[in-house]
Amino acid sequence: MEISLFLKRMRSVTQALLIALMATLSQQATAQDGDAASGETLFNNNCKACHSAQDEVVVGPGLKGIQQRRDLAWLVKWIKNPNGVIQSGDEYAVALYNKFNKAQMTAFPAFGEKEVKDILAYVEKANTAAAPVAAAGTAAAGAPAGESAPSDLFTYILVALLIVMLLVLGVLMAIVSILSKAVSGEATASAGTSFSDRLRDGLVGLSKNSAIRSATVWFFILMVTKATVDGMYGVGIQQGYAPKQPIAFSHKLHAGQYKIDCNYCHTGVNRGKSATIPSANICMNCHGVIKKESPEIQKIYTAIEKNQPIEWVRIHNLPDLAYFNHAQHVNVGGVQCQQCHGEIQTMEVVEQRSSLTMGWCIDCHRKTEVNTKDNAYYDKLVELHKTNSKEPLKVADIGGLECSKCHY
Ligand code: HEC
Ligand code: HEC
Ligand code: HEC
Ligand code: HEC
Ligand code: HEC
Ligand code: HEC
Repeated sequence: MEISLFLKRMRSVTQALLIALMATLSQQATAQDGDAASGETLFNNNCKACHSAQDEVVVGPGLKGIQQRRDLAWLVKWIKNPNGVIQSGDEYAVALYNKFNKAQMTAFPAFGEKEVKDILAYVEKANTAAAPVAAAGTAAAGAPAGESAPSDLFTYILVALLIVMLLVLGVLMAIVSILSKAVSGEATASAGTSFSDRLRDGLVGLSKNSAIRSATVWFFILMVTKATVDGMYGVGIQQGYAPKQPIAFSHKLHAGQYKIDCNYCHTGVNRGKSATIPSANICMNCHGVIKKESPEIQKIYTAIEKNQPIEWVRIHNLPDLAYFNHAQHVNVGGVQCQQCHGEIQTMEVVEQRSSLTMGWCIDCHRKTEVNTKDNAYYDKLVELHKTNSKEPLKVADIGGLECSKCHY
């Protein structure tokens, strides 16, 4: 019978599509290997703001020939913790540090031998390649996006293809199911109507279904109610506040693209109550060299010349009656900046993402387990808590709900 033949064809087309889908997916997963390639990504994301892979000095020295200057063990130690190496009195490091006017290199504690080897492979390759890529002199990340663009494009095309394939798959499945019904003789009455008509009838039938209709109506009513209630609670709360700043400073560029550590600028987060906003001197560690001619950067110079601080507009601000301490949360508690501030490293302009209400603080203290690992201070408490409760030790259990802890 013709129709069953057609059905078989359809099945095999569907199967072929599925296989193609899996193949593209797995290819995507294995597309990235090769040490110099991953080294290039690491270098561009972490080092390029301050180093050229060739000879030029950017903020730090050019890395050409670094493998001849230093051995692997030293390099790993240095990149993990440059300050530690300098402080240990390592002669080479101290001399270099002085030569570069005591400019601080960022520490990369998460980097190990593998990452360093990859970067070295890339530096090697960048110098053996026939024509060096970086334009001389302006290697300060002049055109960072150029090289990665093709692979981005590739990803977009893949995603688009996937979506199209899924749509086709859906339609095919619908057709197959209609055909199956037809074959089993269920639809002999309407045998004359075409497939597209039947498909449309199916959809129209769905929209007439009263259960589905009332579910849709309820969904909208609930959404509107929620929006109204949220709006009323929001009075006096600055969630979403994102004022324009006197200098167009971008976290997306500095913390995102160039992966500069938050601590590098907000030096108080591990030590004190306040995270602190960096002074113009910290900007000058880099902008003494980078993009001096930009009018936005010139504003930093003006501030320093006039000896006036840059007047950043404050965004997060608790009322005076509440006490909040960064070091307690970041250093002792191990809470990530992003849990409270959102994905700062993607923001062109900083926006307040959390409500900063008392309910918000308390809610997290109820839910969050205390980070007691490697902290002898908590050992006795944990034992005591174990004898009383099977639940893990939460912030609420150590006084995180006591009024006096948060109110002066
Ligand atoms: C914030 C700027 C900055 C960043 C980011 C940075 N460095 Fe450095 N680096 C420096 C400075 C400045 C020096 C010179 C020593 C000093 O002043 O501490 C240096 C020195 C070095 C040296 C020694 C060079 C030599 O000639 O002996 C190596 C190796 C090095 N960096 C590797 C890296 C790698 C790899 C990365 C990325 C994972 C990186 N650096 C990221 C600023 C930076
Ligand atoms: C190169 C320096 C630099 C780095 C790196 C940096 N910041 Fe900032 N940050 C600033 C400056 C300058 C401001 C004030 C201007 C503004 O709001 O954009 C600021 C403002 C903020 C604010 C808002 C402060 C307020 O007024 O309430 C938050 C929150 C913040 N940064 C978090 C972070 C986090 C999280 C990271 C790491 C992912 C980070 N910053 C990395 C320089 C930096
Ligand atoms: C660790 C190095 C580093 C530090 C510290 C740093 N910047 Fe930058 N900044 C850069 C790099 C790299 C660029 C990108 C330059 C480019 O596009 O060529 C940049 C770009 C900028 C730009 C955009 C300039 C333009 O016209 O395109 C502004 C504005 C800026 N920084 C402000 C600041 C301020 C304000 C501070 C201090 C709070 C600061 N930066 C600290 C490395 C740094
Ligand atoms: C547990 C939540 C929480 C975490 C984690 C957190 N912050 Fe904050 N942050 C706040 C609150 C609340 C304020 C407002 C403080 C105030 O007004 O006294 C704030 C304010 C700030 C400010 C404005 C200046 C100041 O100190 O008041 C900066 C900058 C900042 N945070 C940066 C950071 C960085 C960088 C990190 C990660 C290293 C971080 N924060 C982690 C809750 C948090
Ligand atoms: C993302 C979760 C989170 C949020 C939000 C949060 N905290 Fe905490 N808080 C913690 C953790 C985790 C600790 C435990 C730190 C430790 O081990 O001492 C803590 C501890 C504290 C302590 C010390 C409690 C004690 O008994 O030692 C105070 C005070 C405190 N937080 C105040 C606040 C205030 C005020 C806010 C709101 C503005 C807030 N916290 C928001 C996670 C959070
Ligand atoms: C984990 C920290 C924390 C604890 C514990 C805490 N508060 Fe608060 N409280 C805050 C913060 C932050 C604010 C300011 C934010 C706001 O207005 O919602 C606040 C605001 C308030 C306000 C002013 C409300 C307003 O609308 O201005 C009162 C009153 C108050 N708290 C009473 C208490 C009492 C009573 C307790 C003990 C049962 C307590 N708080 C425990 C963090 C805390």
